[in-house]
Amino acid sequence: MEKPKVVLGVSGGIAAYKACELLRRLTESGHDVTVVPTAASLHFVGAATWSALSGHPVSTEVWNDVHEVPHVRTGQAADLVVVAPATADMLAKAAHGLADDLLTNTLLTARCPVVFAPAMHTEMWEHPATQENVATLRRRGAVVIEPAVGRLTGVDTGKGRLPDPAEIFEVCRRVLSRGVTAPDLAGRHVVISAGGTREPLDPVRYLGNRSSGKQGYALARTAVARGARVTLIEANTGLPDPAGADVVHVGTAIQLREAVLKAAAGADAVVMAAAVADFRPAAYATGKIKKRDDRADPVIELVRNPDILAELSTERAAPGQVVVGFAAETDDVLANGREKLRRKGCDLLVVNEVGERKTFGSEENEAVVLAADGGETAVPYGPKEGLADTLWGLVAARFPG
Ligand code: CTP
Repeated sequence: MEKPKVVLGVSGGIAAYKACELLRRLTESGHDVTVVPTAASLHFVGAATWSALSGHPVSTEVWNDVHEVPHVRTGQAADLVVVAPATADMLAKAAHGLADDLLTNTLLTARCPVVFAPAMHTEMWEHPATQENVATLRRRGAVVIEPAVGRLTGVDTGKGRLPDPAEIFEVCRRVLSRGVTAPDLAGRHVVISAGGTREPLDPVRYLGNRSSGKQGYALARTAVARGARVTLIEANTGLPDPAGADVVHVGTAIQLREAVLKAAAGADAVVMAAAVADFRPAAYATGKIKKRDDRADPVIELVRNPDILAELSTERAAPGQVVVGFAAETDDVLANGREKLRRKGCDLLVVNEVGERKTFGSEENEAVVLAADGGETAVPYGPKEGLADTLWGLVAARFPG
């Protein structure tokens, strides 16, 4: 089989060095990659590096090998174009259809999915000109990955960092596998909770659960690849932030509730994939609870945590908002799932069977998605990303007009 053809566009930012790692991941996973750097980017990483790593000649402008009409051919032949890093200038050129070098020509002739991974200073990212250019590109079907928050060039920190190359690669892989040029979640804001809450007992102990967060992360990554703006509320997963998602880190059920309700205002969909503790210790001991021979062993009194899914379902934070819950069951899986769907009042409930070796921490999942309108979709055993894609399809079908 022919290798999928990827054009890696590199524009002139300090993060260009990270594109070397992205290139390596793409080639090592069986992609035929042509690197198209801008002339400015060669100040950061030279043509020799791109050529050696990709195994192809490298050109910045349209005047080399003119007989092969590279300004048209490169874009036409591509299965995916990814621009990483995409500077503010590159986003502006792409949004306005300028074509003054090989990369911008390629962007105009490409008919395949296009991914931009912007990197710049926070002020440049937040500038209305950049934001309007990003909105234009997204409206036209491009996937523009939200920059990460962190250390920027020099001493400043803020939003504008190029996400981890491994995470950009994951977005590319998913976009390529879908192969569509009009992402169905473009213009949508989705909120996902992932992981398991921890309810502190004293400064060193907590009540927790075995949720790994992997299903929630798969949902976040697939939603980014389908063009959504993603807010991921993460509880105790220890997983790296997925590229393109705004990540909020929380610990307890109360913190998770606050973060989810805040993010849900105006969102198109909320997916509660987190395992939220139903109970928390009634009291928090400010000092470590010690064992004492002269006293009876302590009994932990528990109080109920608020049911966030039920709250989201009854008080929709936006008209037409789609609310999705998860149910991990050990017995009578479907009957319990149906009852839970009714009780919580959500639109969709993903029901899966759990046990000692099932689902928790694993890369695979098997589930049935129950719908409030009576629908039932079985998702066979497979990667958690497959379930995530099926679920987004069901969610997208419920969005009003
Ligand atoms: N959930 C929630 N808030 C809680 C507990 C759970 O939002 N306090 C959400 C979870 O994120 C999940 C769904 O509700 O999407 C199912 O959680 P589960 O704990 O299985 O439901 P319960 O109502 O607690 O049912 P059970 O009697 O099985 O514990």
